[in-house]
Amino acid sequence: MRIALLGGTGDIGEGLALRWGRDTDHELVIGSRDPDRAAERAGDYRATLAERDVDATIEGRENSAAVVNADVVVLSVPPYYVADTVDAVADSLAAGAILVTPAVGISSDEDGFHYRPPDTGSVTDLVRETAPPDVPVVGAFHNLPAARLADLDADLDIDTLVLADEGSARSTILELTAEIAGLRALSAGPLANAPEVEALTPLLITVARYNDELADLGVTFQ
Ligand SMILES: NC(=O)c1ccc[n+]([C@@H]2O[C@H](COP(=O)([O-])OP(=O)(O)OC[C@H]3O[C@@H](n4cnc5c(N)ncnc54)[C@H](OP(=O)(O)O)[C@@H]3O)[C@@H](O)[C@H]2O)c1
Repeated sequence: MRIALLGGTGDIGEGLALRWGRDTDHELVIGSRDPDRAAERAGDYRATLAERDVDATIEGRENSAAVVNADVVVLSVPPYYVADTVDAVADSLAAGAILVTPAVGISSDEDGFHYRPPDTGSVTDLVRETAPPDVPVVGAFHNLPAARLADLDADLDIDTLVLADEGSARSTILELTAEIAGLRALSAGPLANAPEVEALTPLLITVARYNDELADLGVTFQ
């Protein structure tokens, strides 16, 4: 499978690239608005994995070139730029490509971190409204701690929730997610449930802020 990580130069993109690069044989493409930055970061990730004797296939390309022939496209960009990023790549998406959104709208103040969804109700719904109607949209990875993902010495042992309206797209992303060691993928039903899933993320960051012994929190359902 070919996976494009748009904005894969950033935190969650790095974590997913390193984990999929280490734990699977999928082809990874790091997307960026800047092709040179994409190539540089792809080289960084290959080098990190090579130190562990992993020869991963990771390229870097400008975002709209990164999605060409990709089976799965992860929108790993800040929430306020997700719609523009979808618009920028929509014409280049391969037939059958699945768009995956991990984005969460969050604000913070002296009390903690707060869920701030767009007017659509969730960023996941915003992606659904922005993407071409025939492109399946899946929500996933919202509650994962990027730093823990990117630390390949760290055990994960956490869950991630997958939202989808189409059964086939849901199955593909559930399987792809479960290929990362220590990550359990659970279905959370259709995209309509996205606000509840997205809203967990600011809560996790707030709990970490008020408890010094906790950092890079994830969730486990048991
Ligand atoms: N960090 C986490 O722990 C975490 C966990 C779960 C979910 N998420 C979600 O994942 C998404 C990415 O988070 P992140 O922490 O990885 O973000 P980030 O590191 O701040 O940014 C990711 C990438 O987004 C691109 N970007 C920045 N401004 C942009 C713009 N105006 N238009 C298009 N692309 C732009 C940049 O890539 P280029 O400059 O190379 O184009 C950047 O490297 C967010 O929506 C967040 O809610 C994050």
